[in-house]
Amino acid sequence: MTIVEACESKINTTPEFPMGWFSVARSHELRIGEVRQVRAFDREMVLYRTRSGRPVLQDAYCAHLGAHLGIGGRVVGETIRCPFHGWQYGVDGKCEHIPYSENIPERARIRTWHTDEKNGEVYVWFHPENTMPQWELPDLPELGDPNWTEPRYTEHLVPAHVQDICENSCDPVHFQYVHRQMDVPQSEVTIDPDGRTMHLHSEMKDVDHPNHLHAITYSPGFAMVRVTYGPNAEMIMYNSPQPISRHETLMRWTLLVRREIEDYAGDDVMKGIIDGLGDDFPIWANKVHKHRPVFCEGDKTLVAFRKWVRQFYLTSSEQREVA
Ligand code: FES
Ligand SMILES: [Fe+2]
Repeated sequence: MTIVEACESKINTTPEFPMGWFSVARSHELRIGEVRQVRAFDREMVLYRTRSGRPVLQDAYCAHLGAHLGIGGRVVGETIRCPFHGWQYGVDGKCEHIPYSENIPERARIRTWHTDEKNGEVYVWFHPENTMPQWELPDLPELGDPNWTEPRYTEHLVPAHVQDICENSCDPVHFQYVHRQMDVPQSEVTIDPDGRTMHLHSEMKDVDHPNHLHAITYSPGFAMVRVTYGPNAEMIMYNSPQPISRHETLMRWTLLVRREIEDYAGDDVMKGIIDGLGDDFPIWANKVHKHRPVFCEGDKTLVAFRKWVRQFYLTSSEQREVA
């Protein structure tokens, strides 16, 4: 008897959010005193930069009557002031001031997320239990290096879970069918001794400019791709996504090119990234997430990806409810 898998809906099979660092803004988008509404991890959040220049990311809803701090909230020194009754919260999330009350209730606090600022972006450390960061952000030494161009930026709202977008880069077969390459590139996946950092090496031969592609993935979706055409003919593409919901991800791409090839590669490559995402969109927008896919022997890189990605999720026995 053949057992046919039950029909999957988009909702019931999509994983939660993996732990790791995720971008929530580019640094230049968050000036001192600026307050922004941020949607990430199926949550409403508020991001602001205090007067001393520190970026702060907190849950958006005021502990008092639930006003959204990201809409009408104001930075006052090192605090954010609620637009509804003026309660002020500090960078640790504790209410520090109620303009019409001497005593501040113990429970007057909002959740604060760990943030860091680097590589021209503000990042949040996401973990379902809001733990301390478990690893550091990567460095992008090419940023600011005179041998490399100024960064080019592009952002895209993608109708897919962050894990499925990441899986795409470990899927050399789809280059042939979705991205119209002549052949499936020779590819290899390796994982560092830390078990966490994953590398994909691909020899891209059937393209206009043959190259070696090296993608370093630090956690799901958070990746740097280095493309080498020859000595000093290199570019890097850096993607730091913001998972918005389980079906929507904002991809933030940063592209840097060696000055030697800027005139040949810069704008064209950027256009190539944008066109490439366009190819993937119809697949992403309509697919379901297969929790238990059927793999064949040619799917080695996909199998490696699925094993690797498990470490970024808590198992059900590890999960506990966090307020
Ligand atoms: S709802 Fe924020 S101060 Fe009342
Ligand atoms: Fe793709």
